Amino acid sequence: MNRPAHHVMAIDQGTTSTRCLVFDQRARLVSVVQREHRQHFPRPGWVEHDATEIWRNVDRIVPQALREAGIDASQVAGLGIANQRETTVLWDRHTGVPVGRAVVWQDTRTEDLVRELSALPGAERVRERSGLPLATYFSAPKVRWLLDHTPGLRERAERGDVLFGTMESWLIWNLTGGADGGSHVTDVTNASRTLLMNLSTLDWDDDLLAFFGIPRAMLPEIQPSAREHGVTRRVVPGLRIAAALGDQQAALFGQTCFDAGEAKCTYGTGSFLLMNTGTEPVSSRHGLLTTVAFQLDAEPAHYALEGSIAVTGSLVQWFRDALGLIRTAPEIETLARTVDDNGGCYIVPAFAGLFAPHWRSEARGIVVGLTSYVTKGHLARAVLEATAWQTREVVEAMNADSGLTTKALKVDGGMTPDHLLMQLIADVLDVPVMRPMLAETVSVGAAYAAGLAVGLWPDLRGLRRNWHRAAQWLPQMPAARREAEYANWRHAVRLSIDWGN
Ligand code: G3P
Repeated sequence: MNRPAHHVMAIDQGTTSTRCLVFDQRARLVSVVQREHRQHFPRPGWVEHDATEIWRNVDRIVPQALREAGIDASQVAGLGIANQRETTVLWDRHTGVPVGRAVVWQDTRTEDLVRELSALPGAERVRERSGLPLATYFSAPKVRWLLDHTPGLRERAERGDVLFGTMESWLIWNLTGGADGGSHVTDVTNASRTLLMNLSTLDWDDDLLAFFGIPRAMLPEIQPSAREHGVTRRVVPGLRIAAALGDQQAALFGQTCFDAGEAKCTYGTGSFLLMNTGTEPVSSRHGLLTTVAFQLDAEPAHYALEGSIAVTGSLVQWFRDALGLIRTAPEIETLARTVDDNGGCYIVPAFAGLFAPHWRSEARGIVVGLTSYVTKGHLARAVLEATAWQTREVVEAMNADSGLTTKALKVDGGMTPDHLLMQLIADVLDVPVMRPMLAETVSVGAAYAAGLAVGLWPDLRGLRRNWHRAAQWLPQMPAARREAEYANWRHAVRLSIDWGN
């Protein structure tokens, strides 16, 4: 007897780990399984992942999540995939073996290439068409670098023997059969992070492909985010892959920011503030990205403005691992609470240059304002404040671009249990900060999109009712102190840019 398919599964393939979650029809979390993968730093500025290791992790966690939920594949209505964006995998179509390691979004090896490309005629059209600045962050320079530095690769790519994909594309290809007829697809949100998709046509742009020197034969087919992308033939056969979204877009969806003007910020390794701008792309004049928020099957795409911050949670990890001043990441809050302020100290974590709103790849990290008064408590506080000040810069750009004033900020992600940080963000933005009950917003978003695609949930309105506030922080900092400290922060940012010049 067939049991009803009343569950949705989500895979969240992130920068540091891959998670598989099962939700029931009321969006309650039934099981979650997670596996970390190794971070490879072969040279300064290089960051790589082993795509095969990530695929093997998926192979283990999907059956385990089903077992822990006490269900089988026939009870899963659909599978949604959310993933770290921009990270670039190239693989052999005939063997399924990746061409070297995946080049991760944080990797800055393409800095010189990006400088050369920026000086070429046609460079100004890149932002107009793709919505993105020419920067090391995105996939196209990474693909070009690999084509230029791997003997014989360009010829193989031109013949269609080597495929390109971001992580969702790599996983869908493998899940749906791999070298034995796997579907080579991506979704509009992931494609909008490559620098190769035209934001108006939602297709690969021939001029951009020519500009970056990337053969079309290696690119996946672009599909809406919520739509059947194929049925799994490996790992657990018979799962309908019904959605794929970049993880930050998935979090926007999971926070139910379905309408224009709604925004969220996810605090993880880096932090990403996205505002839904409706069905027309809004171009940024203040250093934000224009990107696709989601596309539900045959409906028009929704766009977003995004402020991407490269280093936030990873600064806490650096403080823990490289400096050894804390043993676990959550201890940063305890240490920061030993003091009342930053003691005059500011840390600008420009480890991978500065992303939004500056886009200065040459900037380097700095610590300023040191005196013999400064203790490790002050440094811990400066680490947390760096996330808050970077959020303020992005929110100011967002307000200026959208013509709207942010009235409150919905937050999620691994850093949000840090109460001091959440309070600092409310203080420096001077708006309330709110965290939802359904904290797994990335997976929730992927599950929502998949559940909508397979008809488990009828519409967006019903999903909105699942959003409940779990916690709120109200601004407390006096305006004069806030503005004086923000001026110090901006001074520190200028120094970090000067240092790299
Ligand atoms: O653009 C990079 C972003 O998608 C990475 O997110 O949560 O995997 O660090 P996360």
